[in-house]
Amino acid sequence: MISPNSIEQIKSRIDIIDVIGEYVKLKKRGANYLGNCPFHNEKTPSFTVSPTKEIYKCFGCGKSGNTITFLMEHDKLSYVESLKWLAKRYNLEIEETEQSPEQQYVQQTSDSLYIINNFAQQFFQKKLWESEEGETIALSYLKDRGFNNEILNKFQVGYNPSSKNELSQALISNQFNKDLFPKTGLSILRNEEDWQDNYRGRIIFPIHQNTGKIIGFGARIIGKNDKAPKYINTPENEIYVKSKVLYGAYFAKHSIDKNDECLLVEGYTDVISLHQAGIENVVASGGTSLTTDQLRLIKKYSNNLTIIYDGDAAGIKAALRGLDMALEESLNVKLVLIPDGEDPDSFVRKIGAAAFEKFITENKKDFIIFQLQVMMDGVGNDIAKKNEVVNQIAESLSKINKVEDFIKQQEYIKQCSAILQIDEIGLINLVNKFKRDKISKDEKIIPFNEANAILQQSSNSSNTKQTEINLFEIDDLHEKNLLKILLEYGLKPWNEELTIAEHIFEELVNFEFENKQLEKIFEMYKSQFQNKEEPDTKKFIYNEDKQIADLVVSITMTPYELSNNWDNVLEGMNILNRDTSIQDVAMSLNYFKLKKIKKMFLQNQSDIEKATSFEEQKQLIEVHKNLKQIEIEITKQLGTVILK
Ligand code: CTP
Ligand code: MN
Repeated sequence: MISPNSIEQIKSRIDIIDVIGEYVKLKKRGANYLGNCPFHNEKTPSFTVSPTKEIYKCFGCGKSGNTITFLMEHDKLSYVESLKWLAKRYNLEIEETEQSPEQQYVQQTSDSLYIINNFAQQFFQKKLWESEEGETIALSYLKDRGFNNEILNKFQVGYNPSSKNELSQALISNQFNKDLFPKTGLSILRNEEDWQDNYRGRIIFPIHQNTGKIIGFGARIIGKNDKAPKYINTPENEIYVKSKVLYGAYFAKHSIDKNDECLLVEGYTDVISLHQAGIENVVASGGTSLTTDQLRLIKKYSNNLTIIYDGDAAGIKAALRGLDMALEESLNVKLVLIPDGEDPDSFVRKIGAAAFEKFITENKKDFIIFQLQVMMDGVGNDIAKKNEVVNQIAESLSKINKVEDFIKQQEYIKQCSAILQIDEIGLINLVNKFKRDKISKDEKIIPFNEANAILQQSSNSSNTKQTEINLFEIDDLHEKNLLKILLEYGLKPWNEELTIAEHIFEELVNFEFENKQLEKIFEMYKSQFQNKEEPDTKKFIYNEDKQIADLVVSITMTPYELSNNWDNVLEGMNILNRDTSIQDVAMSLNYFKLKKIKKMFLQNQSDIEKATSFEEQKQLIEVHKNLKQIEIEITKQLGTVILK
C-alpha cells in the first residue's frame, strides 16, 4: 500500500499539461489547452485540458477526468500503477504503509501462488507437447477439435498426466510450500503424506490476469465422461476470485479497444476458437451470469457488450439474468443467439470466420427490446401478464439513470411503448415511479390498478399536452448551476459576516437537490466546510467514487458561461457585465428556488384536486397562496415575470 502521505505528495506534484502532453499535442487556448482527443478519432480538436482545475474533458466523446484517471483510461493502468508511474516521472520516493500481519500474509500468499501457478503452467505445457501420453491423448484430441499449434501456444494450453502425482512430486521436489497446495487446487492430500494431482488426465487452460500473470486454471476432461465433472476450476483464493475474472481478457483487451466492442461467450474453448478464426475481442464468463465486477472490467475497454449465447431456453435465461446491472453501468448491451445445438466454437468452425462475423452483425438484437419480445411472446390476451411485463420493462428502463444516457432512455421508451401498445407518457411515468421508489421487482410489483391508473392519467395529460412536468426529472441544470457556483465561489465573502457558501446553506435549508448525486456532492461540500476543511474542487475530482468525480468535472467544465445561459433561460433579461460572483450567486439561488416552487405548485395543484374535505382544500389553497407570494418575490428579484 502506498502511504497517504506519498499519495498526497504525488498529487501535489501532478502537472496535468505535462502528463497529458506526453500523449496529446496541446495548444493553449485561453485559460485552457486544446488538442485532438486520444480517446476517439477527430479532425478538429475538442479535447480540453484545464491546468488550474487539473482536469480534462473531451466535448466530442465526453471522456473526462483527472491526471490519474487519464493514465488509467489511456494506458489501462490501475490506480496504484498510475501513482507509481507519476512517482517515477517526478522522481518521488514512494513510501509504503506498514502492513498489518494479515495484509502481509495475503501479500506473501499471493506472491507464492503466482509462482506456483507459473511453475505448474510450464509443467503442463511441457507435458502436452513433450510427453508421449500428452501427445497421444491430449494433443491429438485438441488437434481433432481443430485447434492449431499456434493458438494452443498462445493460450498456453497444457496437460496434466493421468498418473497419480507427477505434478505433486515436481512441486515438492522444487521445495514449494505444501501448506499452499490446497489453495492452488493443483494438488490434494489423500492420506497423510500422499499428495495427489487434482487435475489428472485433464487438459489445462491457464487463466490469466490482466497483466498476463496466471491466477488459476480450468481443467477439462478429455472426451465425454458422465461420472466426472467436465471442468474442474481453481478454488477461490487470494488471487483467484471468480466473480472478477473474465477468461481471455488479457488476450482480448487491445482488440476490444480497437473494435470498441466486447464479445462475450460462455466457454474457454469458444474464446480460443474465435481467436483462431481471427476474432480476438472476445472474453468468456465461465458459464455463470455476469457480475458487476466483470461488467466494470469490460467497461474499462468498451461500452459495447455483445453477448453470444446458445439459442436454447437455458442460454436465453442465462443471458438475460443480471443484465439490469449492465444498464446501470451504462453499457450498450446487444444479444446474439446462435442456432440451437451450436456454441460459438462449433459454429465458427462450421461456417467460417467471415460468415460468423456477418451472422453476429446481422443478428445483433438490442437487449431491452429482445427481453421485451421474449416476454411478450408469452402474454397473449392476458392483461395481468401484460401488466407484469410493463412493470418489468419499466423497472429495467429505470436502471438507466446516467444523465448522458437520457436520449438512449427516451429512445427505448418510444420503442417499448410501441411494442407494448401503451401510451408513451404513461410508460415514462411508470419508469419515473420505479426510479423514485427504487422498487425491486422481487419486493413489489406495482398493483394492476395503480399501474393502470398511472397509464390512464397520463394518456389524458398527453392529449392536453400539459406535460411540462419534468418527465425525466433530470432537468437539473439549475441544480448543477448552483453547485458550480458553490464550488467556484463558496469560500469568497457574501457580506461582512458570511461566506458565499454559508449564505447558500442558509438559503437552502428548506430545499433539496433532486438529483441525488448532486445532493451528495452538496452534502460533502457542506460537511467539509463545517469541519473547517476548506472544500476544494480537487478533493471531489479525485474522489474514489468515479461518478462523483465525473460529475464534478462536467459541472466545472460546463462549456458555456453561466451568464449566457441565464440570458437564454430567463427570457427578457439582459444583464451585461454580470461578472461578479455575488450576482451569480443570487441568480443561481433564485432560479433554483423558483424551479422548486414550480414543482411544489404542481404538487399542490394535484393535492387540491384530490382533497377529500373542504377543510383540507382550504388549507391547500392557503399553501398555494403562500407559494405564490414567494414566487412573486423571487421573480421580482430576478427582474422578470416569465417562467410560466
Ligand atoms: N463450466 C465449468 N464447469 C463445468 C461446466 C462448465 O466451469 N462443469 C464452465 C467452463 O468455464 C466452460 C463454460 O462453463 O468453459 C461453458 O461450458 P461448456 O459449454 O459445457 O464448455 P465448453 O467450454 O464449450 O467446452 P467444450 O467446447 O469442450 O465442450
Ligand atoms: Mn463448447
